[in-house]
Amino acid sequence: MREVFEIAAQDGAARIGELDVPRAGVTVETPTLMPVVNPNLITVDPARFPEFGAEMLITNSYIIKNDPDLNERALDEGLHEMLGFDGAIMTDSGSFQLAEYGEIDTDTEEILQFQRDIGSDIGTPVDIPTPPDSSREQAEEELATTQERLELAETVDVGDMLVNAPVQGSTYPDLRERAGEHAYGTSLDLFPVGAVVPLMNQYRYDDMTEAVLAAKRGLGRDAPVHLFGAGHPMMFALAAALGCDLFDSAAYAIYARDDRYLTVSGTKHLDSLHYFPCDCPVCAEHTPREVERMGDAAREELLAEHNLHVSFGELRRVKQAIKAGNLMELVEARAHAHPRTLDGYRALLDHADQLEASDPASKDAFRYTSADSARRPEVLRHHRRLARLDVAGDDVLLTEGDDNRRFDECWNVVAPFGPFPSALSTTYPLTAETPERMDAAGYEAAAEGIRRLADANPETQFTLAHHDWPATALDAVPERVETVDTSGGD
Ligand code: GUN
Ligand code: ZN
Repeated sequence: MREVFEIAAQDGAARIGELDVPRAGVTVETPTLMPVVNPNLITVDPARFPEFGAEMLITNSYIIKNDPDLNERALDEGLHEMLGFDGAIMTDSGSFQLAEYGEIDTDTEEILQFQRDIGSDIGTPVDIPTPPDSSREQAEEELATTQERLELAETVDVGDMLVNAPVQGSTYPDLRERAGEHAYGTSLDLFPVGAVVPLMNQYRYDDMTEAVLAAKRGLGRDAPVHLFGAGHPMMFALAAALGCDLFDSAAYAIYARDDRYLTVSGTKHLDSLHYFPCDCPVCAEHTPREVERMGDAAREELLAEHNLHVSFGELRRVKQAIKAGNLMELVEARAHAHPRTLDGYRALLDHADQLEASDPASKDAFRYTSADSARRPEVLRHHRRLARLDVAGDDVLLTEGDDNRRFDECWNVVAPFGPFPSALSTTYPLTAETPERMDAAGYEAAAEGIRRLADANPETQFTLAHHDWPATALDAVPERVETVDTSGGD
C-alpha cells in the first residue's frame, strides 16, 4: 500500500479522509461519491459532474475495451478527454459482467494494462464477486482465485495508476475478515468491499453491515475502503459509520430511467409524488406533473439530476456530521425512516465494541432519540470505564436526584449511562440530551452501568435512588444494591 490516504477527522469508525490520486494530480476529500458512467448510455454529461460536487467518477474499462469505437477513442484521446472530466477516474475491470454473464474475455494483466493505457487513475483487477448465500466451498475457492489475481496485479507495471484490491468472501464474515487481511498485505492501494450489490438491491442492510465490518476487521485502519455499488443516499450515513470512504452511484441514472426519484428515506415513483420533497434546483423549478409531461430524454435527465443533487446533499450532511461528531444521530434518523435501514443500524449496534475502539473521547452532545440509542458505542465505553473509576466511600448513594449527606459519597445516575461521579457531569458523553420520558431500554442500560460498578467494587455498599424505574431495569440491578423509589408514586 502506498501512502495515499490520510485521516483528518474521525467519528466512531467513520472518517473524513484525504485520498491522493497521483495520476490525476488531485487530492479527493472522503467520503466521496463517484457517479457511475456507462459510456454507451450517458444520462448526465460528466463534464457537469463538478456542479453536483463530484470529484471522482467511475466507469467500466471492460465495456470500453470491447466497443471498437470507444476503445479507439479512449486509447487515442485518453479517458479524461473522452468523457470530458478532469477529476479522478476509477475504472472497473469487467468483474461485474463476469458475475452477471458467467464469463468475460479478458484477464487481470491485460485489463490492468488497458486501464493504464487509457489513462485511468485507479484500476481494478478481475476479482470474482461471489454472490451472497453461496456455499462455503464456492466462496473459499473463488476467494483463493481473487487472491491470486491481487498478487498478479502487484506484478503488473501500472505506472502511477493506483490499484483496487477488492475484498470478497460472500456472506461469511470470517472469509471477509481473512480477505481483508490478505488484501491489506498486498502492495495495492484501495480496498473495495465487493459483491454487496445483491445485498443492497434486496435491502439486506444488516447482512451488508456484517460483511463490511468483517472486512474492516481484517484491514488496517488506514486503508481507504470503497463500498462497491453503494449508490442509494438512504444508506450513506450507515455506510460511512461502518468506515467506508468511497461510494459509487449507478442508481442516479438507472432509477431515473424508470421514473424513480431518490430520497434519503427511500425511493419514490414520479407518479406517486404530488410535490417534490426536495430543495434542489430541479425540484424548486418544476412540479412532478410538469416533469411527467416532458419527453423521455428530458424527464430522465431531470430525474437523474435530482438524484445526483440529493445524493451529494446527503454526502455533505454525512461529512458535516462526522466533523461535528454526531454521525450516529444521522444514522439513527435514517434508520428510523425505513425499516430495512433500521436492520442495518441494529446490526451495527451489535458491533458497538468495534466502533468504540476508534471513537473520539469527546464530541458534540450525545442525543438519545430512541431505545436503540441505549446500545451506542458511547454508552458501552462509559460502562467499560466504570470498572476503572475510583470509589472512595464504603457507603455510596447512586441517585437520579440530589446529594444526600447520610452517605459517604454520592454519584449521579443518568440513563442510559448509569452512575458517574458528579465531577464528571459536565464532561462528554454525560452532558447527553435525553428525553424526559425515558424508555425502558435506557433505564436497563443504566442498570447495566450499576452492575459494572458494583462488580468492580465488591466491598462497597451501594444504594440506588431512582425515579420510578420499570421493573425490567430494577431486575437488572444486582441484588446487593439497595433501591429506593423517590417518585412518591406520582
Ligand atoms: N461492482 C460491484 N460489485 C463489484 C465487485 O465485487 N467487484 C468489481 N470489480 N466490481 C464490482
Ligand atoms: Zn430535487
